[in-house]
Amino acid sequence: MKRLKWALYILAALLVLIQFYQPDITPRTTDTANSDLLRTIPGAPSYLRGACYDCHSNESKLPWYGYVNPVGILVRNHIIEARKHLNFSVIQDYPTEKKVKKLNECAEEIRDGEMPLQSYTWMHHDAQLSDEQRNELSHWFETAAAAALARDMNNQ
Ligand code: HEC
Repeated sequence: MKRLKWALYILAALLVLIQFYQPDITPRTTDTANSDLLRTIPGAPSYLRGACYDCHSNESKLPWYGYVNPVGILVRNHIIEARKHLNFSVIQDYPTEKKVKKLNECAEEIRDGEMPLQSYTWMHHDAQLSDEQRNELSHWFETAAAAALARDMNNQ
């Protein structure tokens, strides 16, 4: 019994200590209206922001459990990882080839049901996409890839 009590004390202490580790999700770049996906390519379905921007942009909104570890570490690391792969806030600053490739990948990931991450839609039901929305959003991303290409050609 005594051992169990100590184990619980140690567990409680660890849970308190782990709260001090909060991976930093402050964006490293300053955004400009010229580099954000939704501000440069119009006509996106309204649910795109809710489905992707919490992870793939500098406008992430942390839910309350983003401050409570160990779940918080997971949430923050998803944001850090997601931005590293693809950040919609600065996407127009990517080299043309990378940008077009990423936008086409978005269409693919959405169509395959890989994105938004399931762990995200469990908690954010409004980010859950219907088949119809997946279709519409994939199409929009393919159009956005073409629009990004045209935009870069014009700017050359
Ligand atoms: C909960 C956070 C989260 C949300 C919400 C989310 N993603 Fe992701 N996404 C990630 C993470 C983490 C990765 C990198 C690891 C991986 O591929 O699983 C990623 C990877 C990707 C990649 C692959 C990029 C590459 O270079 O390999 C694409 C494309 C993508 N996401 C698109 C989207 C789109 C489009 C949405 C919205 C419909 C979305 N994601 C929503 C977390 C998220």
